[in-house]
Amino acid sequence: MTALVIAVDGPAASGKGTIAARLAAHYGLPHLDTGLLYRAVGLAVLDAGRDLDDAVAAEAAALSLDIVGLSDNPRLTERDAGEAASRVASHPGVRAALLKLQQDFAGQPGGAVLDGRDIGTVIAPDAAAKLYVTATPEVRAERRWKQLTARGQDIAFNDMLEDIRRRDERDSGRDSAPMVQADDAVLLDTTDLGIEAAFDAARRIVEAARVRAGI
Ligand code: DC
Repeated sequence: MTALVIAVDGPAASGKGTIAARLAAHYGLPHLDTGLLYRAVGLAVLDAGRDLDDAVAAEAAALSLDIVGLSDNPRLTERDAGEAASRVASHPGVRAALLKLQQDFAGQPGGAVLDGRDIGTVIAPDAAAKLYVTATPEVRAERRWKQLTARGQDIAFNDMLEDIRRRDERDSGRDSAPMVQADDAVLLDTTDLGIEAAFDAARRIVEAARVRAGI
């Protein structure tokens, strides 16, 4: 039987992480949030007192990244970590250092779900199912703003919207593996969808892909 690899790409706060986690639970597959890898590299560079534009320091941090316990580190979910991640992610050496780890994860015998920016284009171009999850910048900023203010962080909505727009521009404008919808990815716009409706739509996309791939 062919492995079911599901690639979920899209911009920040589009809902891709939640959708990927739900798909992984539904199909009983391991899930990798690849944004955490870049977030951990960004924080490691900051913790070492180096500049995020320092490609050599960033690549060294990526090469010595320990992925154990990443998803339990609350610092990685903070706003600064996302911004740092987006900056170090533009260094080709960082992307190269994280490539094998992600491809090994995608290559597990039973399959896997990965979410990020370049899963369907670079990491797993042969994935059986590819989704590109998006929503308007305003709706994405509102989601992120609600999450962060619920955690007690004091952020103005307009600053959040500015963050989201800047991040979109940087992630889609970089030369190395820019954020882009793969030619064969299905677009899922979650602007007007709640979590259940978005998951349902995602599941239907994966089911159609499974039929096509005979999995
Ligand atoms: O998905 P996220 O918001 O946690 O990602 C943080 C940043 O990491 C994002 O702005 C760009 C970078 N990233 C990337 O370049 N490629 C990926 N596959 C995942 C994340």
